[in-house]
Amino acid sequence: MDLLLLEKTLLGVFFAIVVATVVSKLRGKKFKLPPGPIPVPIFGNWLQVGDDLNHRNLSEYAKKFGNIFLLRMGQRNLVVVSSPDLAKEVLHTQGVEFGSRTRNVVFDIFTGKGQDMVFTVYGEHWRKMRRIMTVPFFTNKVVQQNRHGWEAEAAAVVEDVKKNPEAATNGIVLRRRLQLMMYNNMYRIMFDRRFESEDDPLFVKLKALNGERSRLAQSFEYNYGDFIPILRPFLRGYLKICKEVKQRRLQLFKEYFVDERKKLASTKATSDDGLKCAIDHILEAQEKGEINEDNVLYIVENINVAAIETTVWALEWAIAELINNPKIQEKLRAEIDTTLGPENEVTEPDTHKLPYLEAVIKETLRLKMIVPCLVPHMNLHQAKLGGYDIPAECRIYVNAWWLANDPAHWKKPEEFRPERFLEEESNVEANGNNIKYIPFGVGRRNCPGMLIAMPVLGITLGRLVQNFELLPPPGQSKIDTTENNGQFATRMLNHATIVLKPRYV
Ligand code: HEM
Repeated sequence: MDLLLLEKTLLGVFFAIVVATVVSKLRGKKFKLPPGPIPVPIFGNWLQVGDDLNHRNLSEYAKKFGNIFLLRMGQRNLVVVSSPDLAKEVLHTQGVEFGSRTRNVVFDIFTGKGQDMVFTVYGEHWRKMRRIMTVPFFTNKVVQQNRHGWEAEAAAVVEDVKKNPEAATNGIVLRRRLQLMMYNNMYRIMFDRRFESEDDPLFVKLKALNGERSRLAQSFEYNYGDFIPILRPFLRGYLKICKEVKQRRLQLFKEYFVDERKKLASTKATSDDGLKCAIDHILEAQEKGEINEDNVLYIVENINVAAIETTVWALEWAIAELINNPKIQEKLRAEIDTTLGPENEVTEPDTHKLPYLEAVIKETLRLKMIVPCLVPHMNLHQAKLGGYDIPAECRIYVNAWWLANDPAHWKKPEEFRPERFLEEESNVEANGNNIKYIPFGVGRRNCPGMLIAMPVLGITLGRLVQNFELLPPPGQSKIDTTENNGQFATRMLNHATIVLKPRYV
C-alpha cells in the first residue's frame, strides 16, 4: 500500500517538474507563444484535439483562439494561420523563413527524408530540384507541346463513355476512366508513354502501388506514433509496410520507365529538343552530376502524387458540383455551344475564350479546396509571426480553405456560385493574385503545376459537358459530396456513379 502511494507521489512530482521546467524555460526566454489550448505533459494537446486536423476543425479552433494559434501535438508544434495578412506574411514577406517543409514519420520514408522536391527544406537542394524540373514540366512551351496529347486523351474518354451502354442508363464510376486519362497525360510528358486501357497490367500495378502509398500517407491513424515518440514502437508494423511499398514503387519506376527510356535513348538520337520527354532532361542533370539516381526516382514519385491525384480529385469535385447544380451545368453548356458551335470540341486555346468554364473550375477549387491547408510549411529557425514567437521547426498550416470560405471576405461562401468570379470577384485569379484565394498556394513554394492543371481541367470538363448531359444515377437526386479528409488532401469519400447521356448520337 505504502509502495503504491510512494509510486503515485513520485509520478505526481515527476509531472509537476516537467510542467514547471517547460513553463520556466519558456518564461525565462520571455517567449510569447501564440494562444492555444493548454497542453498537458507528453501528450500536449493531442488528447483534446485528436487526430483529425482537417481544415474545418482548424477553422473552428481559429474562431476560439484567433487567426494564429498553436497546437502542441506531442513533440510536434503546429501553428495554424487563418487570416489573409498572416498568410501573406508566411508565404510572401517571410517566404524564406517559412519556406521549408516538415515531414512526418511516414513522409520521411516516402521521400527518403527529403531527397525529393516537394518535401525538402528550403535551400540549395530544393532550388536545384525546382530548377531541373522547370524546363521539362513547368513552362508554356511544355503546355503547347503537350496540349494536343491532353485533347486526344479527353477525346478518348468521350469515345469510351459513348461506347459503354451502362453510362447512359445505370451510370458508371467515371473517376476510373479519368484516372487513366490523367496517368496518360503525365506519363506522356514524363516518358512519352501511355496506357491503352484500365486493364493494362502495368497500369494496374502502378495504380495499385500509388493508391497504397496515398492511403498510407494520407491516413490519420499513424499520428500517435508521429506525435509521441515513446509510442513509436507500436507503429513498427505500419512503417514496415510503408518501407516495402516505397521500395516496390521506386523499383517499378526504375525498371519499367526510367531504365526503358535509357535503353531507348541509347539506340535512338534524342538530340532534337522536340523529341525529348521530361525524363531525358532529368537524366541529363544526373549525367552532369547535379543530382543522383535516387533524386531522379523521387522526381517521378513527386509527379505521380502531386500531379495525378490532385487533378483527378479536382475533376471529381467539379463533376459532382455540375450534377448537383444542373442550371450551372446548362449555363456552361450554353457558353460552349455559343462560343464554339456544335462541331468544335474544346481545345486548350478555347479554354481562354470560355470565362464561365474558368469560373466553374475556380469555384470548385474554392469550395472544395484539394489541398486546403497547403502542403505544410516550416520555419527552420526560431521566428516571429503576428507578434508571437514561433519556435524553430514548427509545422505551419495556412488554412487556405478558410481564407476562401470566410464570410468576412466572401458573399455567401457556402454556395457553389461560379458567377462570383465574373462579378464581385472578377479580379481574383487562381495564381494567388489575391491572398484570400490560393488553391495552388503562392510564393516560393507555390504549385508550379497550375500551368498544367488548369488547361487539363478546362479541356476535360469542357468536352464532357459538350458531349453529355451529366446526371445522378437512377433513384438519386444528388451526388454524395461527403468529404474524406487526409493529412493534406480533401477527397470525395465515395466515388460517384454518374449517368452520362450523349447529346449527339
Ligand atoms: C488541381 C490540381 C492541383 C492542385 C489543387 C495543387 C495544389 C498544390 C498546392 C496547394 C501546393 C502547395 C503550395 C504551398 O505549399 O505553398 C502544391 C505544390 C506542388 N505541386 Fe501542385 N497542385 C495541383 C496540380 C499539380 C500538378 C499537375 C503538378 C505537376 C505537374 C503539381 C506539382 C506540384 C509540386 C512539384 C509542388 C511542390 C512545390 C514546392 O514545394 O516547391 N501540382 N500544389
